[in-house]
Amino acid sequence: MIKGRIVGTGSTTPKRILTNQDLATIVDTTDEWIMRRTGIKERRISSEGQSENTSDLATKASLRALEMAGISAEDLDLIVIGTVTPDRQFPSVACFVQKALKASKAVAFDVSAGCSGFLYAMSVADNAIATGNCQNALVVGAERLSSVTNWEDRSTCVLLGDGAGAVILTANAVNDGILSTHLQSDGSFWNLLYSTDGTAKIPEILNTIEGKPFYLKMEGNRLFRKAVECLSDIAGKVLEHHNLSSADITLMVPHQANLRIIKAVAERLSIPMDRVYTNIQKYGNTSSATIPIALDEANREGMLKPGDFVLLVTFGAGLTWGASIVKWSF
Ligand code: COA
Repeated sequence: MIKGRIVGTGSTTPKRILTNQDLATIVDTTDEWIMRRTGIKERRISSEGQSENTSDLATKASLRALEMAGISAEDLDLIVIGTVTPDRQFPSVACFVQKALKASKAVAFDVSAGCSGFLYAMSVADNAIATGNCQNALVVGAERLSSVTNWEDRSTCVLLGDGAGAVILTANAVNDGILSTHLQSDGSFWNLLYSTDGTAKIPEILNTIEGKPFYLKMEGNRLFRKAVECLSDIAGKVLEHHNLSSADITLMVPHQANLRIIKAVAERLSIPMDRVYTNIQKYGNTSSATIPIALDEANREGMLKPGDFVLLVTFGAGLTWGASIVKWSF
């Protein structure tokens, strides 16, 4: 059985930091409320003229992952990018990244699965590898959520940020790498998190942001409960599928939407928080980018070694959710 193995990780976030105190000058909120209810301290926001569009961030993260993997962009057969904030409606972010990397051989396309975009994209690439059609794949989660944020809605604008993360997958016949990915969707709950029509006013302090003709709308409370339920359930399923217990997991890298969601899921799975990677305090929710950014940071911090089982678990608009077990191999 051919499997995809992660051989490189990379990530990037925009330079500009937007703190909770900055947000308190825009909407009726406080640092204390945001920290207590979400765990977020600050987030990164793209600025105009700084080459920080979704495809720019995706390209930077990809270059870092390629460098770590020691693979040339010319050797990529596939580029799959999870995003809900493409530079343009079309062409895809993946095609812009292909051009920037000069990855002329690669087939390139985006996947839209809300915040679950990265795991969906990784599953597509892993399946392409399993068929024997692909040797090297670049998988990215990249977002510029600030462009679809309603800066007048305090219940959502405090949560979101921009960034990108990438992994390089290569084919291998050894029993490690991505052991499996379980995905689920339920369109009947689409209206808990969606993009709406209308232009939200961009406050003076953020006048570098180019607004999109729609913004994000969320029913936070119901979504919170669905997130805890779906994340715990799918993580339990993938563990059971591989006959693994929570004690076998070296590190859980969850989608970073709310620290309270992460803690509730860890508790349900009996995984202590010192084996759960969180960086939500620095970046907020960057949608598809949260998992690959967190994975790259954990990897570069030396938290992973060959043979470790890593649990990736995600949830997002759709609704979509999924979990993957990766046996770390480098
Ligand atoms: N600052 C201060 N007060 C705020 C606020 C803010 N930024 N945002 C909301 N509030 C207020 C509300 O207006 C409400 O006031 P009220 O009681 O007077 O009506 C109160 O805080 C409680 O609101 P509620 O929505 O019940 O808070 P909460 O504990 O559920 O936290 C979220 C709100 C959004 C942080 C939380 O629901 C959440 O994280 N949901 C899931 C998000 C998610 O998973 N999103 C992405 C999926 S990929």
